[in-house]
Amino acid sequence: MNENKTPPIYPRDFLWGAATSAYQIEGGIENDWRDWELSYRKNGQALQRCGKATGHWQRYEEDFALLAGLGCNAYRLSIEWSRICPRMGRFDDRAMMRYIDMIAALRRLGITPMVTLHHFTHPAWFHAAGSWQEPHALQHFLRYVDYVLTHLGKLVDWWVTINEPVVLVLGGYFAGMMPPGLQQPEIGVRVIGNMIEAHNECYHRIHQTNAAARVGIAHNMMAFAPLRVVHPIDLIVTHLAESFYNWALVEAIERGLLEARLPSGAFRREFSEKGNIDFWGINYYTRAHMQFDPESSSRMKHVYLNAAGLGTSDLGWEIFPEGMTTILRRMANFGRPLVITENGIADADDSRRTFYLREHISRIDGLVQEGAPLAGYFHWSLLDNFEWLEGFAPRFGLFEVDYKTFARRRRPSGDLYTHLIAERTAAHRQKPAENFT
Ligand code: FCB
Repeated sequence: MNENKTPPIYPRDFLWGAATSAYQIEGGIENDWRDWELSYRKNGQALQRCGKATGHWQRYEEDFALLAGLGCNAYRLSIEWSRICPRMGRFDDRAMMRYIDMIAALRRLGITPMVTLHHFTHPAWFHAAGSWQEPHALQHFLRYVDYVLTHLGKLVDWWVTINEPVVLVLGGYFAGMMPPGLQQPEIGVRVIGNMIEAHNECYHRIHQTNAAARVGIAHNMMAFAPLRVVHPIDLIVTHLAESFYNWALVEAIERGLLEARLPSGAFRREFSEKGNIDFWGINYYTRAHMQFDPESSSRMKHVYLNAAGLGTSDLGWEIFPEGMTTILRRMANFGRPLVITENGIADADDSRRTFYLREHISRIDGLVQEGAPLAGYFHWSLLDNFEWLEGFAPRFGLFEVDYKTFARRRRPSGDLYTHLIAERTAAHRQKPAENFT
């Protein structure tokens, strides 16, 4: 990256933020994932318990002050369904009040909230009732959404209905590593379909409540490459993996047709509606190298390599910013605003996060320069947090968390983020606002 290059002029309302999710930071949540921690064994080992997480439920004002101190003007958070609806048909007004307070606290700091309605976790009763594969799932979810909208509908303009439906389904219904722990791809594909129906319904309900709302999905997209470039079957599995992982959901929402071609079979579902999306949220982290694997039921496996030579994260994920550019260029063809809803690196000693941040933001500079419809960038994450199956070991935060004292400490990469935001908003701070009349 050319250090001296002046960044392009970003849109005045570009969202510069950080992202989190409720279960990963709040603490004290009882949901299906909490139960999963008690029952699932990963390679024969018990999972780490999330427990108090980072204690954010009590410390949110302090954390929002840290966010504002970074220079962010936006924050992506999620609402925990199991808090709002701890028992079937019962709502907890006090839990809702806390989220209302959070939104108010953000607004006081001049920070635009982006609210995710579903980020991987479910109330235990929903899991017990059969989760997303059951026909009544949609009604349960919408009852929760309606309740949230009654309270927050007019206070929030940016909504993410569901975080990473494909990741949830691969983890929960293909690999069986996440709740509900099934290994039945055909049910998994049905669940993606049910989640798309849920998204479509939410899209209408959110707009009915708030005409100014912008409703999207946060979709995890990866760069893909074959492990052996001259191996025809690796090329085929790479194509199949990329089509399913990156594009099946996008096509289903944009064109109303979900098609999945997998070694376990081909699936097709048509939807009565299409195009119900105001922006695409893209969670981009890394590149996967794909290999044919006759041993696995999916006939494929992925590995992370340091193929570009830019290094890897503490989880071994390759640093590959170019992949983000390729994906965003392709997504730009749909003509909708694009928001990077997550991008970050597990890096406990903060030795690579500054490089990672610079490189990805410089790619975004390039795309803004090209005229791509980018509307925001949210770094994952504001704080170190509970990384699902990996527990607390991966450190994704711009702020380090001491899990004994819950003290937060800003990492040098946090300082860099402040600097990068300041450089990219300087032009707007100098010039008086243009008057559009
Ligand atoms: C994404 C998830 C998020 C976090 C990051 C590292 O897939 O949406 O909750 O775990 O990965």
